[in-house]
Amino acid sequence: VTDGLVDRFGRVATDLRVSLTDRCNLRCEYCMPPEGFEWLPTDQVLTDDEVIRLITVAVQRLGVHEVRFTGGEPLLRKGLERIVAATSALRTAAGVTPETSLTTNGLGLHRRAAALAEAGLGRVNVSLDSLDREVYATLARRDRLADVLAGVEAADAAGLRPVKLNSVLMRGVNDAEAPDLLAFALERGYELRFIEQMPLGPRESWQRGEMVTAEEILTRLQQRFTLAATSVEERGAAPAQLWTVLDDQGRPRGSVGVIASVTRPFCGACDRTRLTADGQMRDCLFARTEYDLRGPLRAGAGDEEIARLWRAGMWGKRAGHGIDDPGFLQPDRPMSAIGG
Ligand code: GTP
Ligand code: 5AD
Ligand code: SF4
Repeated sequence: VTDGLVDRFGRVATDLRVSLTDRCNLRCEYCMPPEGFEWLPTDQVLTDDEVIRLITVAVQRLGVHEVRFTGGEPLLRKGLERIVAATSALRTAAGVTPETSLTTNGLGLHRRAAALAEAGLGRVNVSLDSLDREVYATLARRDRLADVLAGVEAADAAGLRPVKLNSVLMRGVNDAEAPDLLAFALERGYELRFIEQMPLGPRESWQRGEMVTAEEILTRLQQRFTLAATSVEERGAAPAQLWTVLDDQGRPRGSVGVIASVTRPFCGACDRTRLTADGQMRDCLFARTEYDLRGPLRAGAGDEEIARLWRAGMWGKRAGHGIDDPGFLQPDRPMSAIGG
């Protein structure tokens, strides 16, 4: 384990989140301004081969055995299937095949789900904040609900299971829809997770006092569903805390998750490390420091040198995100450039 990504609090990062692009084809209110951001210049974005090289170092030398592809919107990356296939072909030092997954907004997923499954992708998480066409179009600033639903169905059909759905709830926009979203997911066997909005988007879009909290979400769900808590052991390092949804006879009919990053932080169990599309390592979603891996990579650094830089960076990981600390500052880059 000493060769792995250990921090000074004894946490070990075995889960790598790779952002493949900072671009997106939606403009969700909680994430981007209508005009988008100034995108990374192409020459700063890692090539497919560079991404694969860094993932290879993480898996072969640093103990990473879960790799999640994110964005921006990772389906905008043409080489995604190739990157997934190369990752699935890797083995850890212990001979284990890394688990792969994708977090996507679902646009265009119906056209690529089968190829992604073929490339070895394990499963997908799809953002779905509303089932109402108009609410969706308002929130995402694009009228694309039908495409997303087609993508979710195709992922399920391609065996990218369990399909998980992510809903960020915003007060007065989609929070009242929570029970309908859950009913939809339960009927189809998807695992829905409600997410507390984090201060990572446009600055004016997040106010602590306005945020829809885990407690509120649960209260709202319990008006229509019977929920039973699951054990802490089952949760492990997952951001989502799970509840079993019971039917009238008290039998389980599915589950629902709540990702309460703000009101119930889970940083003590964190097992994550991150790579941005431009080749910077981040030890946390909320990190204020990044470690450049692209420079050394392009200058010809060997695998062990890159591994050493990665380990050294992780050692500086802070205990928690500090959202409630008096001097809290949002990271310099928005969520879409960090990779969720
Ligand atoms: P699973 O492996 O399916 O549990 O994935 P996940 O829930 O970790 O990943 P996903 O990309 O679906 O992210 C769901 C939500 O969790 C998003 O709002 C992410 O920003 C948030 N999230 C992911 N990783 C972290 C983390 O390390 N810290 C915090 N605070 N939030 C995270
Ligand atoms: N807070 C919480 N979750 C967010 N996401 C995007 N921005 C935020 C935010 N500010 C979600 C997306 C997607 C996942 C990667 O993160 O909806 O499901
Ligand atoms: Fe880990 Fe940072 Fe997320 Fe906390 S906020 S769980 S430390 S990545």
